[in-house]
Amino acid sequence: MISKAVKLQETSSFIREWLKSPLVTASVVPSSRRLARKMVRGLHAGMGQVIELGPGTGVFTRELLAIGIPESALVLIELNGRFAADLKQKYPAATVVNGAAEAMSHLQLKRAGAVVSGLPFLSMKDRQIDAILEAAFQVLEQDGVFVQFTYGHRCPVRREILERHRLFSSRDSFVLNNFPPASVYHLKRKP
Ligand SMILES: C[S@@+](CC[C@H](N)C(=O)[O-])C[C@H]1O[C@@H](n2cnc3c(N)ncnc32)[C@H](O)[C@@H]1O
Repeated sequence: MISKAVKLQETSSFIREWLKSPLVTASVVPSSRRLARKMVRGLHAGMGQVIELGPGTGVFTRELLAIGIPESALVLIELNGRFAADLKQKYPAATVVNGAAEAMSHLQLKRAGAVVSGLPFLSMKDRQIDAILEAAFQVLEQDGVFVQFTYGHRCPVRREILERHRLFSSRDSFVLNNFPPASVYHLKRKP
């Protein structure tokens, strides 16, 4: 449980960054705790490393820690310098990278059990999404999962892109209690 003061501070920081860069921040306020819980559903400490893309103020990060993922097993990749600096301070044992998720393949990361993404896929170009999925599935274990949320009505990764990467998607949940309401998708390798 976070205090009202922390929540207020995170929300105002989010609004400030959204005003500076609306397409990259892609939401006026951080995701709700309800959505965060759905994003981490099914993940567990035995999965090894977990990579989070676009953590923002760390709503999903907090929930990953709450389900027992050790802080030292977290890799947080955030483009916004202000958010990344705050995350470094809050989670000193995690690996925090201030950079673009598309460049993840240059990081030489260890194998991961899951990638949790808060990235704004709906405002990204196909080639960006391609690069992100390519890099993510290079580090993901064979049965690893890429968790993605969207405010849209269907999977935010087009069918052709899924096919190209030999992936399938399934909608895991719908969260009404979020602004705006959101769906959570799981992307996995085809068997
Ligand atoms: C919709 S916000 C989600 C933030 C947080 N996960 C949440 O749900 O409250 C999108 C986040 O992705 C970050 N972001 C956008 N493009 C990115 C990229 N190419 N690489 C890494 N982070 C990116 C933004 O700075 C922002 O923090």
